[in-house]
Amino acid sequence: GFYLNFIKENRYQWLLDGLKTTLEITVFAVIIGVIIGFIVAIIRSAHDKNGKFRFLNGICRVYLTVIRGTPTMIQLLIMNFVIFGSVTVNKIIVGGLAFGINSGAYVAEIVRSGIMSIDQGQTEAGRSLGLNFSQTMRMIIIPQAFKNVLPALVNEFIVLIKETSVVGYIGMMDLTKGAMLIQSRTYDPTWPLFAAAAIYLALVMTLTYFMNKLERRLRTNERG
Ligand code: ARG
Repeated sequence: GFYLNFIKENRYQWLLDGLKTTLEITVFAVIIGVIIGFIVAIIRSAHDKNGKFRFLNGICRVYLTVIRGTPTMIQLLIMNFVIFGSVTVNKIIVGGLAFGINSGAYVAEIVRSGIMSIDQGQTEAGRSLGLNFSQTMRMIIIPQAFKNVLPALVNEFIVLIKETSVVGYIGMMDLTKGAMLIQSRTYDPTWPLFAAAAIYLALVMTLTYFMNKLERRLRTNERG
């Protein structure tokens, strides 16, 4: 919340509170986005490969078209004012859902491209070992595909972290809004905005650092 301390305002605290909100929305959205993304990618791939899931594939295509074809911001506003317009829910849920559903569409296409990048022979090898479709996917295709798409997924998570900076529009006090609040109290735009930028940068650099490490580890495990 807003700490209106009339003796001495702790403006630093607004940035920290905002950062916490930004992180909460992002983590929530990443989880939802990855779950949706993998499910949609697998349905779409199964349909491409052997005509399975005709109906579900249709739904997935509509989802991808609508979500990628409309601004994230409008989706966030619809989530807040229309879908949750007349009920009281934690805004973290509202924002997390909006960004998660949005990100899921991008994750789906990233994962689908990864699945397509794996040679058909891998599927045939799995099936000839007696694995069924879902086992082949889970044990052979997805682990290899994941390694190939990791850089693109990292890219998506970077976009997602920064995209949450618009949640001020639904009345959330995230990192960006925290900086603007300080600006409105001090009439100094420079340090709060640069401080917010520096914190986003640090978040993205930290994420990139750990993802590069993970990528290297996955590559060392590669045979041949
Ligand atoms: N600001 C863009 C929009 O509103 C972001 C799209 C990219 N988003 C993503 N998750 N890759 O559509």
